[in-house]
Amino acid sequence: MNILVTGGTGYIGAHTCVSLLEAGHKVIVLDNFINSKKDIVGKIEYITNKKIQFHEVDVTDELMIDKIFSNYDLDAVIHFAGLKAVGESVIDPLKYYYNNILSTLNIAKACGKYGVFNLIFSSSATVYGENTVPFVENMELLPPINPYGYTKMMSERILMDISNSNPNFSVSILRYFNPVGAHKSGLIGELPKGNPNNIMPIITKVAKGLYDKLKIFGNDYPTNDGTAVRDYIHVVDLAEGHVAAIERLKRGTHIYNLGTGQGTSVLELVHTFERVNGVKICCEIVERRPGDIAVCYADVSKAANELGWKTKLTISDMVKDAWYFENKI
Ligand code: NAD
Ligand code: UD1
Repeated sequence: MNILVTGGTGYIGAHTCVSLLEAGHKVIVLDNFINSKKDIVGKIEYITNKKIQFHEVDVTDELMIDKIFSNYDLDAVIHFAGLKAVGESVIDPLKYYYNNILSTLNIAKACGKYGVFNLIFSSSATVYGENTVPFVENMELLPPINPYGYTKMMSERILMDISNSNPNFSVSILRYFNPVGAHKSGLIGELPKGNPNNIMPIITKVAKGLYDKLKIFGNDYPTNDGTAVRDYIHVVDLAEGHVAAIERLKRGTHIYNLGTGQGTSVLELVHTFERVNGVKICCEIVERRPGDIAVCYADVSKAANELGWKTKLTISDMVKDAWYFENKI
C-alpha cells in the first residue's frame, strides 16, 4: 500500500515507518519537525535500506495537505502528527486545540475529497480517565482533565461522525497505553525537544548522570508498593500494531487498545531498569503529580481477536533498548 504517515519522524511514527517498510509498504512522510529532527528521515532509510518520500509540511496547512493528496495515489493514512505535552496543553490550550484538531480536520477532509477512505488515528488511553481497570474499548469515557486529552476525545468523535456519514470510510482509532523503549539499532527512540515529561527518558537521563534523581510522584496509591501502575508497551510492538491495523481495516469506526494488558508500578520499572542494565537510579519520593491516576492498563482482547496482534517484548526489553538508545544519542 501507499501510506501517508503524518508525524512520521516523531517517536512512534518513525518506528511505525520502519515496520511498514519492512512489511513491504511504501510510505510518504509529512512532518514539520516541531518535536522531531530532520536526520530521522535518513535513519529510517538506513535501518530499512529503503527510500521514503518526505515532505516538510505543517498538517494544519490545508492547501499543502490538498496538494500532497493530489500528488500521490494514496491507499491509506496514519495520522500521528500532534502535540502531546500534557502540562503545556494546560498552559497553552489554544496551541493544542489548533494543532491537534485542525490537523485531524484537514486530513479527514482530504481523505473524503480524494477518496482515501482508510484512516488510522493515534489516540490515547488518557480518554478513559480514572475508569476501572482493565480499560475496555466500549467503556463510557470520562471527561479528560486537560486540553490534550480533549483534543484526542474530540478527534475520535470527529472521525466517528465522518465515518458514520460516509459508509465508504474505514477508520481505526488506536488508543496507546505507555510507549517506551527504542529500536534495537539505537538509531531511533524517544527524543522530545526540551525537557522530557514521560518517565522513561527521565530514568535514562538519571542513569547517564544528566539528572540527579528520578522524582517518584507518590507512594501512597492503592497499589502493591504504593507507586502508580501503567501499561508500558515497547514502541516496536506498538509500531507492529499499526501494520496489523492497516492490513485489517474495515468499514466504519473501530477502536483498539494497544497495550500489553499488564500493569507495572514505577518502582517495578525502576528496579527492572537497575537489574537489567546494572545501573543505579537515584530516586526520591515526592508528592503525587496532579492529574495522575493510580492504575491504568488495557484489556487487549479486541486487538488480539480482530487484528491478530499482541505484544512480544517484555519490560526487560523496554528498559534495555531505552538505555542502549540513550547511550547512542
Ligand atoms: P512525537 O511528538 O514524537 O511525534 C509527533 C510528530 O508529529 C513529531 O515529529 C512532530 O514534529 C509532528 N507534528 C506535530 N504537529 C505537527 C503538524 N501540525 N504538522 C506536521 N507535523 C507535526 O509524539 P509521539 O509520541 O510519536 O506521538 C505520536 C502520536 O501519538 C501523537 O498524536 C500523540 O498524541 C499520540 N500518543 C502518544 C503517546 C505517547 O506516550 N508517546 C501516547 C498516546 C498517544
Ligand atoms: C502521560 C500523560 C497522558 C499521555 C501519556 C503519554 C499526564 C498526567 N498524563 O501519561 O495524558 O497520554 O503521558 O504521553 O501527564 N512518573 C514519576 N516521575 C516522573 C515521571 C513520571 O513518578 O518524573 C510516574 C507517573 O506518575 C506515572 C508514570 O510514571 O505513574 C508514567 O508517567 P508518564 O510517562 O508521564 O505517563 P502517564 O502519566 O501515564
